[in-house]
Amino acid sequence: MSTAEKYVVPTDVTATWDVPANCSARFSWEYDEPRARLLSLYQKGKDKQWDSTKRMDWSIDVDWANPVGMPEEYNPFLGTSVWDKMNQKERDNFTHHQAAWSWSQFMHGEQGAMITAARIVETVPDMDSKFYGATQVMDEARHVETFARFLQEKVGTVFPMNKDLAALLNDALQAKDWDFAYLGMQVLIEGLALAAFGLQRDMAGNPLAKQLLAYVMQDEARHVAFGRLALKDAYAELSEKERDEREDFVVEGCWLMRNRFLGTEVYEALGLPVKECQDIADHSEFQQIFRTLLFSRIVPCVKDIGLWGEKVQKCYAEMGVLDMAGHNLDELMKADEDQAEALDKERAAMQARIAEVDETIAVGASA
Ligand SMILES: [Fe+2]
Ligand SMILES: [Fe+2]
Repeated sequence: MSTAEKYVVPTDVTATWDVPANCSARFSWEYDEPRARLLSLYQKGKDKQWDSTKRMDWSIDVDWANPVGMPEEYNPFLGTSVWDKMNQKERDNFTHHQAAWSWSQFMHGEQGAMITAARIVETVPDMDSKFYGATQVMDEARHVETFARFLQEKVGTVFPMNKDLAALLNDALQAKDWDFAYLGMQVLIEGLALAAFGLQRDMAGNPLAKQLLAYVMQDEARHVAFGRLALKDAYAELSEKERDEREDFVVEGCWLMRNRFLGTEVYEALGLPVKECQDIADHSEFQQIFRTLLFSRIVPCVKDIGLWGEKVQKCYAEMGVLDMAGHNLDELMKADEDQAEALDKERAAMQARIAEVDETIAVGASA
């Protein structure tokens, strides 16, 4: 069935969103001299490809009202007048649409990542980065496919891409230098997405949603590692003016993501009082913690790649996330990889047990 029928607002799926490119496609004639760490990431990228049709158990059902199986405390509206006025059907409808909104942004964001990674392959000067980027294009294609299947088959409702997410992507893709695409997508948008995935992965009660997030995060750990390596090398040689431009981009992008990316489209789609709902979401304790947590992957990465001037630090201090600079990204990424592997082991053990039971039943039946 066409996605057109699943969009909550009429969306012309025959029209494409066209973003012009201002950065040249570059060929390189140096086929040797790859950087060892990039090469090992490229190798890992090739070795760790997975197929969601095989690795995930799509027979698992989801609850329509709560597709991801998030605990009640996750709902910022609980205990507010807006919530109290709703009957059970309206509440279910609301939580369904909240989940559909956030997973739709994940899906569109993954498409953004696929397109950005493809542009990186074109524009980045070094062959080793092009090689690695090519594996990332494939990773992101698998992510789009997987999120789209979950949304279409299991959730059934899709929201269009949030305007502020689109604005940031637009800026990153239209920049004249190749690294802005990486800075916008890999460091800011993916950093934010990773934190949101992680939070939902750890709280998800639905095993299919949990598998999906854990497996996607396993790949994202490589993407962030690549972004750090590629940008750290490139940024070591920036002039003051160039560094300034990038720091401005980071500050603007971070405020955009923090203040505007709030799911207002859900209130509009359901005919709820938008201003009142925004206030509730803005002031809810959970939302405030959540918004802070969203920066847990971005801040240490920005520091690590060397964009740590005064205005960036001031921005993070105002957001109350400056101490996240001390988080150990390598440890966080290793934990993401381990979680995915642990889920694989759990599934394999469960399947072995099912096979054993089937075998026993078969023996019993033939006795
Ligand atoms: Fe991705
Ligand atoms: Fe990614």
